[in-house]
Amino acid sequence: MIHRPRRNRNNAAIRRLVRENHLLADDLIMPLFVIPGENRRVAVPSMPGIHRLSVDLIEKECAQLWELGVSAVALFPALDGAQKDRHASESVNPDGLYQTCIRRIKKNVPEMIVISDVAMDPYSSDGHDGLVDDSGRILNDETLPILADMAVSQAAAGADIVAPSDMMDGRVGYIRGKLDEAGFTDCGILAYTAKYASAFYGPFRDALDSAPRAGDKKTYQMDSANVREALREAELDMAEGADMIMVKPGLPYLDVVRALAEISTVPVAVYNVSGEYAMLRAAASNGWLDYEKVVLESLMGFKRAGADLILSYHAREVAEWLRAD
Ligand code: PBG
Repeated sequence: MIHRPRRNRNNAAIRRLVRENHLLADDLIMPLFVIPGENRRVAVPSMPGIHRLSVDLIEKECAQLWELGVSAVALFPALDGAQKDRHASESVNPDGLYQTCIRRIKKNVPEMIVISDVAMDPYSSDGHDGLVDDSGRILNDETLPILADMAVSQAAAGADIVAPSDMMDGRVGYIRGKLDEAGFTDCGILAYTAKYASAFYGPFRDALDSAPRAGDKKTYQMDSANVREALREAELDMAEGADMIMVKPGLPYLDVVRALAEISTVPVAVYNVSGEYAMLRAAASNGWLDYEKVVLESLMGFKRAGADLILSYHAREVAEWLRAD
């Protein structure tokens, strides 16, 4: 036999030598849920191990993440129902929960990259990412100024990168224009480019109590059957000035990650979403899977598919394991 591929797998040293992809804490982004109050830590039942934290605890969490080598967090606010309305007006409150949290992270852990979420749903009484009219339609162009005001308000609070997760048409260019007008030319945009209408977001909606009050998100989030459409979205987002593009969810959409990695001229991120986290946790708690091993294997799958950055609820523990290694 001339060809024996097993030679390159003979021992750990040679396997390390020929390894094609590497999982580093450098590439991880930890999503965090912020809640009002002081010293509050509230579990998310469908995401064992994940908690909603008050701002003071978020500060501590960020300091620890930074220590572990995780250099970016993606923040999501969980507001009381009373603060929600049709126009998501709380989203531009300079002293609101979200802006306060951004400001305090940047004050306490200044180097931490803070990625803020731009979409109406955590603030909307309709639970949709865009403005809803009386007949239940999502109004694209009327939503754009609301998103842009939100982005400017987050940038003013200190966000390094704003991440529109709403899937309205034209929002990246619109937000870029308004950020620049307001002087925030250094604030980046991570576009949720190929965000699919997915049932894997269930636990996230539990965490924020942000499920749509009526209808679903299929007129703006993508159909899970499509990949060509993701290429179109990517071209538009790059042309409109996105600094990074993202695919979401992750594990069921690795082909989309690969497709975008092949055409993109900007870094490609993937969001390993709440439902993916919940699945591995649930199987592990039944003793059916080795948690650490399946998590590392899953995240390596993202790297292999071509992702540069990974948003994952496993980020903190992965960084701990990598450190211990
Ligand atoms: C909404 C938003 C969602 C997630 C991030 N931003 C849910 C949705 O579209 O309903 C989901 C993230 C996750 O499931 O972990 N703007």
